[in-house]
Amino acid sequence: MKVTFLGQSGFLIKTAGKTLLFDPFISANELNNMDTLDIACDYVLLTHGHQDHVLDAEEIAKKNEATIISNYEIVSWYGEKGIKGHPLNHGGAWNFDFGKVKYVNAVHSSVLPDGTYGGNPGGFVISNEEGCFYHAGDTALTMDMKLLPLTVPKLDFAILPIGDNFTMGYKDAVIAAEFIECDKIIACHYDTFGYIEVDHEAAKQAFSKRQKELIFLEIGVETEF
Ligand code: NI
Ligand code: MN
Repeated sequence: MKVTFLGQSGFLIKTAGKTLLFDPFISANELNNMDTLDIACDYVLLTHGHQDHVLDAEEIAKKNEATIISNYEIVSWYGEKGIKGHPLNHGGAWNFDFGKVKYVNAVHSSVLPDGTYGGNPGGFVISNEEGCFYHAGDTALTMDMKLLPLTVPKLDFAILPIGDNFTMGYKDAVIAAEFIECDKIIACHYDTFGYIEVDHEAAKQAFSKRQKELIFLEIGVETEF
């Protein structure tokens, strides 16, 4: 799978001949100077309705005629804007043409930019013949993470928030990595705003002490996982 970090919780992941865009927050992110018009994708996966996850979803989904995958409430909201979608709810999975997507629990909040109720926030587990990964979205450390090893294929890598304040910080993320039984963690939800600035070296060391790897991807650079 080819993974490109877009800043905050945004990722472009190419797998099984399709391109999945997660939580696009690009045009207002000072750390990312990419042009949203340059982003091509087949699907847009939204973990929850907060602005720092959905900001550019409408524009990019419309331009690419992409399908939005999210919870029922968020997919319905975009449906009213003429964007096609596939609704999921927690614990449910569906087989798409690129693999299986399961929408799993997150402990957070969710409201759409205009104040519309955004349903409950979630994360995604994606699995296909190339592998399996988890994008946690915004979440606290939660005991529900212990359910992943029991219910989804072995994770090859996971994307976890580490910025603290609005989500778990990196110390809790180390415990989350243990709960989900995954040794390779890609960091997200850090450094975008003052509240979530992270000491990268201290965070990496906290993971390596527990025999795990924390990866800070450079924005806009594609990496094979
Ligand atoms: Ni959020
Ligand atoms: Mn957020």
